[in-house]
Amino acid sequence: MRFPDGFIWGAATAAYQIEGAAAEDGRGPSIWDTFSHTPGAVLRGDTGDVACDHYHRWPADLDLLTELGVGAYRFSVAWPRVVPGGAGPVNPAGLDFYDRLTDGLLERGITPMVTLYHWDLPQALQDRGGWANRDTAAHFADFAAVVHDRLGDRVPYWLTLNEPYCSAVVGHLEGRHAPGLRDERTTVTAVHHLLLAHGLAVAALRAGGVTGAVGITCNLTSVHPASDDPADLDAARQVDLHENRMYLDPLFRGAYPADAEAHYAHVTDFGFVRDGDLERIAAPLDFFGINYYERHHVRADGGGGWQRIPPAHPTVTGIGVHPEGLGEILDRVAKEYTPLPLVVTETGLALHDYPGPDGEIADDERIAFFDGHIRAAHAALERGVPLFGFFPWSFMDNFEWASGYGVRYGVYYVDYPTQRRIPKRSARWYAGVIKANGID
Ligand code: FCB
Repeated sequence: MRFPDGFIWGAATAAYQIEGAAAEDGRGPSIWDTFSHTPGAVLRGDTGDVACDHYHRWPADLDLLTELGVGAYRFSVAWPRVVPGGAGPVNPAGLDFYDRLTDGLLERGITPMVTLYHWDLPQALQDRGGWANRDTAAHFADFAAVVHDRLGDRVPYWLTLNEPYCSAVVGHLEGRHAPGLRDERTTVTAVHHLLLAHGLAVAALRAGGVTGAVGITCNLTSVHPASDDPADLDAARQVDLHENRMYLDPLFRGAYPADAEAHYAHVTDFGFVRDGDLERIAAPLDFFGINYYERHHVRADGGGGWQRIPPAHPTVTGIGVHPEGLGEILDRVAKEYTPLPLVVTETGLALHDYPGPDGEIADDERIAFFDGHIRAAHAALERGVPLFGFFPWSFMDNFEWASGYGVRYGVYYVDYPTQRRIPKRSARWYAGVIKANGID
């Protein structure tokens, strides 16, 4: 099975999950510093204070990307490193770090793909309401312009946000991520302000003369009703609205879905939407990033709502492995939403990896996971989906948000006490895929 020439094989990370150096060189605190230091918020009290110490070890880490053979590397820029107060003075040392990183990639022949927001909102902005405050969107656009001014001559791919669903819902409704709120009205407001931030950032990049391609990454789920019973079908409709259409419709159709107002009527009348917002949110993009982890099987809960049917074979994070869901999502986005080039900016499997007696990290389940998802991606390409790249999550083990260091996603193992990186069996396997531009 061969991929088209020029298909991009990448690897992905995010700033707070790998960098560490949380208080170094003028970096300000983010909501994840606050949250991870809140007792009980993160498993075992883990924080990103040190993480993979990538802030200091980046040259050796980039050498590992060379060893892996990737064509591109997706990393995020920490807003609190660059604009420590969220708005106002720029911290040159923060920009210098990403400048070095970008040059380091280019020297190694690796294409940089920059995510501007991977969840590390400056705490100073949270203190003024965070994503519930419309001003945050404008501050984000200013930050995007600052980063683009410095890196725009060398970065060919820009992603505004990573997974606005998780920022909004996991952070403001489920309370499992920073800022740790549980309020549905705030959640829907945050969805809108995140999308607006995306739209304003796109405008700022365009105004700055961006030459690279501009996009956004959404996490999308494939949703299946438990039966043809109208109540189960309605349950699936609700989950699809909540997880997918609330993002896809405004981004690609310039409107919230027709059933959104009724669905959220008990908490909001969408009064936060102002004239022109949806046009900004739907501003033309150059590509679209998709993160895929979950396929949901849902049924009616008997009270007008929905509930998930647990997967038959849960992984260590409680979700199932469903490569076919990736194909379903790629088809749907291409058919129903946009002809834009698509890229899988993340997919991956959490395991409790450990080195065996021989030192080998035998993550055969991860190999099977990627094998299945790469085959699903290839099948989508053959059906005509314009997919141009695949970025496994993750390059190396890292701070997995509320799970701390308790689960591992990397193809490189990180021995945290020594910060040694060890290629897992999946790294060798993936290097082979890259080399062959496909699977034998
Ligand atoms: C995604 C996040 C990424 C990582 C993976 C496992 O939701 O974008 O940072 O945590 O999940």
